[in-house]
Amino acid sequence: MTEPTPPLRLGIAGLGLAGTIMLRGLQGWDGAEVTAAADHHETLLANFAGDYDAETYTDVAELCQSNRVEAIYVATQHQFHAEHAIMAAEHGKHIILEKPMALSLADCDAIIEAVERAGVQLVIGPTHSFDPNIEYMAEIIASGELGALSMINTWNFNDFLYRPRRPEELDTSQGGGIIFNQLPHQIDSIRVLTGDKLHSVHAALGVLDQARPTEGNATVMLRFESGAAASMVYSGYDRFDSDEFFGWVGEGGQDKPGDTHGQTRARLKGVTGEEEKARRTSAFGYKPSAEISGGRFAAPDNLREGHFGVMVVSCEGGDMRPTPDGIAIYDDDGARHVEIPAGKFLASRPAVVQELANAISGKAPARRDGQWGRASLEAALAIQQSSAERREVLL
Ligand SMILES: NC(=O)c1ccc[n+]([C@@H]2O[C@H](COP(=O)([O-])OP(=O)(O)OC[C@H]3O[C@@H](n4cnc5c(N)ncnc54)[C@H](O)[C@@H]3O)[C@@H](O)[C@H]2O)c1
Repeated sequence: MTEPTPPLRLGIAGLGLAGTIMLRGLQGWDGAEVTAAADHHETLLANFAGDYDAETYTDVAELCQSNRVEAIYVATQHQFHAEHAIMAAEHGKHIILEKPMALSLADCDAIIEAVERAGVQLVIGPTHSFDPNIEYMAEIIASGELGALSMINTWNFNDFLYRPRRPEELDTSQGGGIIFNQLPHQIDSIRVLTGDKLHSVHAALGVLDQARPTEGNATVMLRFESGAAASMVYSGYDRFDSDEFFGWVGEGGQDKPGDTHGQTRARLKGVTGEEEKARRTSAFGYKPSAEISGGRFAAPDNLREGHFGVMVVSCEGGDMRPTPDGIAIYDDDGARHVEIPAGKFLASRPAVVQELANAISGKAPARRDGQWGRASLEAALAIQQSSAERREVLL
């Protein structure tokens, strides 16, 4: 008889938006036990301490020394990813590292080297490529059931650029804007679906607001070695919202009112500097469970599938698209819907921890390992270069 696997003892580095979503997504799942967390903000730590019987630290460096932690979820800002991932590896901790893996390929290489030297496991994510509907469509493509993949078209229009931001989040040279924060979701989802090596990109990026002078929209064409192609369109300008085409179900699977166009911008009007920074922490930092009533952090049973906009995947024998409850398949026999039942509440969070646990136990190597994260960053950098040089960039 095989012994049941004990839950992975996980420390959370960063109790901001990403840390919060991870904690909500792991609630009620027995594959992980959250044993510690670190954040510079004392309020966020106190909120966390009220909900979890776990250690708290004011710096990631201290969290890395904890004996109660086997793996660390690095959910600090982009510019700290390399430092924190390398520090975790040097303390023998396995790592889940948020996207983007880092801001330069040299930093990705340094992380990969540190992980190999320490003999620990690394998973990059969770991007929306971990959403069950993306994984399920990838399985159908890999099975050959619908024939060869020809094209993927995906659109996401949301309010990203007008959520409260710190200055560096609006400065591309420091990792700000959509290239490093939002496009990785589309790049990873497309890469999981194609299962193929990227051949080239051709892109045009837009900066539409000089008060927030970083890229806020993108039109991108990706070609893969198999000949399959993908288009990615993204806009974070809070005008059209593509959740209108997703039955007004939001990114985290929450019900979304259909009459809020422009309201994220309106809320931010006249708010800048220190006030915007304070709003960023209070809006997105970890809040006590008892205070959470709706939105992306709604009760699990109120949520449907997470997604990142509208997508249609076209194969020789049919088309597919994610829906709020699963996937729709269109072929010569008509249309049918396949419901995906399990783990609807932020299912990507247990999924990313499971990918790490499988790599640690030797059950299966991590799919989104360091080389994967490096290749996704390479694609994002090629998008930036292609737009600047107005030409196709070969990878
Ligand atoms: N996968 C997703 O859906 C998703 C969602 C949101 C953010 N992210 C990613 O997660 C990362 C964090 O984004 P965010 O929006 O949560 O940022 P955030 O600013 O809301 O949270 C980061 C937290 O890390 C803390 N921190 C930074 N350095 C620290 C240190 N040395 N010691 C202790 N605490 C420290 C900060 O105080 C802050 O509270 C980004 O790289 C972003 O791309 C991913």
